[in-house]
Amino acid sequence: MKTARFFTASFMSMALATFAIADAGAAPSSLADGVYTAEQAESGKPMFEQNCSTCHNADFYKTVFQTWRGQPLQYLFEQIMSAMPADKPGALLDNEYEDIMAYVLQITGFPAGDTRLQYYGGVMGDVNVEPAS
Ligand code: HEC
Repeated sequence: MKTARFFTASFMSMALATFAIADAGAAPSSLADGVYTAEQAESGKPMFEQNCSTCHNADFYKTVFQTWRGQPLQYLFEQIMSAMPADKPGALLDNEYEDIMAYVLQITGFPAGDTRLQYYGGVMGDVNVEPAS
């Protein structure tokens, strides 16, 4: 009897702990979990239109995501920061590249989440590129 009660109690606390973790919003582990905010993508849109869309459209990024699948998002981001816009590489601020990346994720069909996409201290190194839907 005693043992049974112990198991019931520990099962319940485990279940509660799991619930608490899920409720606190665990850090995203994939692009599908939402790695940028909707406000961020909105802010990235005009910058994307001004700096990127003359040369690439959404379909281009789908191909890029296919090619880069399985690699940390950070690697793709660093490639964009150092090489794009092709006519003036590295010309934008880090936060502008972050917002543009958020917008690119939005137009390729990945959902928004609760946390800003950030180069420093964010999840970029922990989530991998995956093909867009
Ligand atoms: C003046 C034209 C031009 C502009 C503007 C431009 N790009 Fe590019 N981009 C290119 C060319 C050319 C390539 C390399 C050839 C290719 O992959 O089509 C490229 C490649 C890329 C790639 C693929 C990188 C790789 O190695 O797989 C990404 C992602 C990209 N650009 C994103 C952007 C973003 C984001 C912006 C805006 C900040 C931007 N580009 C602005 C011309 C441009």
